[in-house]
Amino acid sequence: MLWFTLSRNEEQTLAVQIEEELRKRILASQLRENEKLPSSRELAHSLGVSRNTVNEAYEQLLMEGYIYRIPRSGTYVSKGLAFKKERRQLPPFEKQIHQPEEPIIDFKASQPALDHFPRQAWANTYKQVCLTANEDVFGYQSALGHVQLREAIANYLGRLRGVEALPDQIVITTGATQALSLLTTLLQTVGEKVCVEDPVTEEMRSIFTEAGAKIEPIHTDEHGINPAHLPKNHKPRFVFTIPSHQFPLGAILPVKRRIELVEYARRMETYIIEDDYDSEFIYEGTPVQAMQSLDTEHVIYLGTFSKILSPSLRIGYMVLPYHLVERAKKQKWFTDRHTSSLEQVALAMFIKEGLFEKHIRRMKKLYAKRRKVLVEAIQATFSQCDIIGQAAGMHLVVRFNNVNRIHAHDLVNHHVHAIIVEHFSIEKGQHQNELVLGYGHLQEEDILEGIKRLKKALTSCVAE
Ligand SMILES: Cc1ncc(COP(=O)(O)O)c(C=O)c1O
Repeated sequence: MLWFTLSRNEEQTLAVQIEEELRKRILASQLRENEKLPSSRELAHSLGVSRNTVNEAYEQLLMEGYIYRIPRSGTYVSKGLAFKKERRQLPPFEKQIHQPEEPIIDFKASQPALDHFPRQAWANTYKQVCLTANEDVFGYQSALGHVQLREAIANYLGRLRGVEALPDQIVITTGATQALSLLTTLLQTVGEKVCVEDPVTEEMRSIFTEAGAKIEPIHTDEHGINPAHLPKNHKPRFVFTIPSHQFPLGAILPVKRRIELVEYARRMETYIIEDDYDSEFIYEGTPVQAMQSLDTEHVIYLGTFSKILSPSLRIGYMVLPYHLVERAKKQKWFTDRHTSSLEQVALAMFIKEGLFEKHIRRMKKLYAKRRKVLVEAIQATFSQCDIIGQAAGMHLVVRFNNVNRIHAHDLVNHHVHAIIVEHFSIEKGQHQNELVLGYGHLQEEDILEGIKRLKKALTSCVAE
């Protein structure tokens, strides 16, 4: 006699509970192949349910092939279903004793002030789009991205970054990260060299190497990438640069070097990929126009909304020379068809209604204040240091002239975290006494406390 308990309060119906129990027993060989199951009347009686309920469960199992029926004989377990589920090997559970730790002050870079995300304005805009947008917004769209957002970006870039772009040259991507990944494939880099600023983040590097490209590091100093170091006797597939606020060094590339880079691209018939990820936040002088304004055929311009608004939006874009647009569109389609249209249309409306630029103005004020607090604290605390790359963005670099080498563990021991520039270097040995300090996400009191801790942490390095 087959018997098991059924729960009458479960969200699952009684029939589904019977199916699951029988499935489990068949797979575990507790009900063996060709074994006869009780009739629906018998099983209904032993479980205390209606015959219809058992019939419903049997019909489902019959359809899935767990059981078979012989007319005028009965219902049987199908053959060949004994099946052992593989058990995951779990590491032995170790009970950890958690001691309350002092929270680390993390000068991580590239993190916007998430607590200042314009929640209300974004929610209003998004709601309006959901309630009023044309039906087509809810369907599949062009792989280039929604035309309203491409128009809004073209207009914004023309006015504020000097970028020459028509909406048809813009591809909306899932962040600048995806734009880089698409470009690396599109420009056929497998087994080929691509020139990359050194230092550069490991993430950027790995986007290129994972796609099969070989990295050629190009020396980058406090003025940015040095075109004199670009290869002369072979052509790289592209040169990757962040001219408006190099990461990590923070340099703003002088116009002379920009012209040299463009001339190089023309001479070698290659491309410059210009990553313009946080140039909206300029604190000294006027913003330098994008390099793309010097040459629309050899410079591919990348932008993102991750730093101005939020990385969670996952919206970035690339501005391409016309001859690359069709291929990029195909590549984007193959990757994920297109970026989410609802967010795109909401963002387009957010830009058109002036809310985006209003937010930039607010954030620029906030970051300028935090940067001032940080710079003054560094100057008051460390007598022998240089501050590099402070004119823009949300991070700067400090070079400690009386320190040979900074150790990450000394920082951790003092509950402060910052990345040593050396960590981003391809050619090692030149940036061991420099730290990247991101401040966009930190409250003023945390910045001040963080610098105090840094002072203590670096005392042991000075003694070396
Ligand atoms: C140099 C650089 N460019 C661009 C980005 C933005 O990437 P995404 O738009 O995919 O968020 C980042 C992210 O930290 C970055 O460090």
